[in-house]
Amino acid sequence: MRIISPSLLAADFRHIEKNINEVEAAGAKRLHLDVMDGHFVPELTFGPMIIQAIRKCTQCHLEVHLMIQDPHKTIDQYINAGSDTIIIHFEASSNPLDELSYIQKNNVCSGIAINPDTDEKHLKPLFKYLDYILIMSVYPGYGGQKFISSTLDKMKNIVEMKESRNIIIAVDGGVNLETISMVYETGIDVTIVGSGLFKAENIPQRYKDLLDA
Ligand code: DX5
Ligand code: ZN
Repeated sequence: MRIISPSLLAADFRHIEKNINEVEAAGAKRLHLDVMDGHFVPELTFGPMIIQAIRKCTQCHLEVHLMIQDPHKTIDQYINAGSDTIIIHFEASSNPLDELSYIQKNNVCSGIAINPDTDEKHLKPLFKYLDYILIMSVYPGYGGQKFISSTLDKMKNIVEMKESRNIIIAVDGGVNLETISMVYETGIDVTIVGSGLFKAENIPQRYKDLLDA
């Protein structure tokens, strides 16, 4: 079964509740929230206050993608904001194992994101504290970038490494009507779709087309 997690980065923040209602009515059970710090990545987006507000608009599972340096400094704020999964970046953390176990101890699902050029072998030692792996298929920082095809091999490798462990594997960046099928063919569980969904004229229809593509 295909699971799509709409990335609100591409939504219209003037009408964020409307956009959320639309994708939820179309069947979305998860939402992807991109937090950027202007340091680990050049852009700035939003923080815990906006996540708290979004929490009040939806029943969806909120997966919060922290593109922030040294996430341990602010992780409590994202736990308290109502995140269901918190995803830190392998490249931004000095001690990912400690941070992932801390997230789990607080009854939030733990996730790690890896950049296209980060070797997936670094994930193996983290497996025991991991609920979710986010494979970046673009370099993080912006929506609307072109899918990097060489990350398809990384997806296949991670699916194989996971074996029967209960870890969700997701792919983020450049997923759209053209690329979505080859991404699912690797065996991953969840795709994150931003501009490929929210820039459509008819968002609910696009959600269905992505499921059927
Ligand atoms: C990129 C973000 C993505 C982004 C994806 O740094 O992590 O979640 O919203 O956007 P699209 O689907 O437009 O590539
Ligand atoms: Zn993201």
